[in-house]
Amino acid sequence: MIKSLRGMNDILSEDYKRYTYFIQTASKIAQKYGFHFIETPLLEETALFKRSVGESSDIVGKEMYQFTDKGGNDVCLRPEGTAGVVRAFIQQKLDRAGGTHRFFYHGAMFRYERPQKGRLRQFHQFGVESFGVESVYEDASMIMMVSDILKALGIGYRLQLNSLGDNNCMPAYRENLVKFIESVEEEICEDCKRRKSTNPIRVLDCKNEKCQSLYENAPKLINSLCENCESDFSQLKKILDENDITYEIDTNLVRGLDYYSKIAFEFVSDNIGTQSAIAGGGRYDRLVEFLDGRPTPAVGFAMGIERLLELIEMPQEQREGYYIGAMDEEALDLVMQLAHKKRATDKTTMDYKAKNLKNHLKAADKVNARYCAVIGENEINDGTIWVKDLHNKTEITIDQGEF
Ligand code: HAM
Repeated sequence: MIKSLRGMNDILSEDYKRYTYFIQTASKIAQKYGFHFIETPLLEETALFKRSVGESSDIVGKEMYQFTDKGGNDVCLRPEGTAGVVRAFIQQKLDRAGGTHRFFYHGAMFRYERPQKGRLRQFHQFGVESFGVESVYEDASMIMMVSDILKALGIGYRLQLNSLGDNNCMPAYRENLVKFIESVEEEICEDCKRRKSTNPIRVLDCKNEKCQSLYENAPKLINSLCENCESDFSQLKKILDENDITYEIDTNLVRGLDYYSKIAFEFVSDNIGTQSAIAGGGRYDRLVEFLDGRPTPAVGFAMGIERLLELIEMPQEQREGYYIGAMDEEALDLVMQLAHKKRATDKTTMDYKAKNLKNHLKAADKVNARYCAVIGENEINDGTIWVKDLHNKTEITIDQGEF
């Protein structure tokens, strides 16, 4: 028997209901914030991710589904959504148009990670990207949007915040950090030794316990932010306080992708095990320029849909639409016609076998129909149809034309 690949799941039945409920809820909220849907390809040039997510990141270094296509192009299944949206933004010359452009998207992402609970190789994200707004109010709106989505779904969270500085304050901090890493270099893991030269701030979220305890004494960027980064960070905290959004400052929050600057954030859940990050994002003011567009400030986030599915509180399901059946084989063609017409306005399920009334009622209940409509011998002769409202428990017999 052929099975799906490791870390790649089917989504059906109950999960699919949750999945569509999530997409509908999140999309509506994104639209309320003025975002428009965008769809970008699943496959892109590998260079796009190398240049944006960064060569030193685990995603590009170890986790890409990368191959040469039949035309000899080096391509890759997207490991995340931001790079493709930025590519589209530049390709459509929106960077030259100026103004504000806000997008949301959802779909499959691919990372060749070690699968475990909450960590898949094909997973789905809901994400938003905003271009052209420098103001920290936009960063705050991003965080509020995630919070609104999670609240609408009945999901509790903890919000972690950090500032990764900008071109003014980051270089000096990086130098300091490298000096610190050199002072403990004998004791740190091999990965951190490598990170020291590729992207030193990544050492701060090393999962190795020994490294973590050594880095407790590392210099903190939050203490050496430049004036602009400092004032944006303070303003953000003030806005969140004023809007009753609680947060923790996590100076080790560096994110696993290289394009961030200034504000970075993650939402975590304490109810789903070790893979607890349910959303992450931040500002990436340098990326558009880095991918050859006009310098454009940008900020965004993405939520991991699979991790949210088990946390969503579903609203009580309402009975919906019609179930229609025949008690006599002779009436099946007629029932088929009525079902076809009814589908112009309502969800309608038809049973292709003649059955007695009790079995039809059971079947209508199983598909959660609001109405069970049945044609028996009497109804064939009278040109009528029997309809029961399964919610109000009332029943009537009406003309087939009226139905
Ligand atoms: P990310 O933190 O890499 O950010 O991913 C966002 C979310 O996707 C995570 O918080 C997690 O819920 C989910 N996720 C990541 N990897 C997996 C996996 N292997 N299995 C299941 N879920 C996973 C980004 O991707 C950025 N593009 C977010 C962003 C948008 N930043 C700015 N704009």
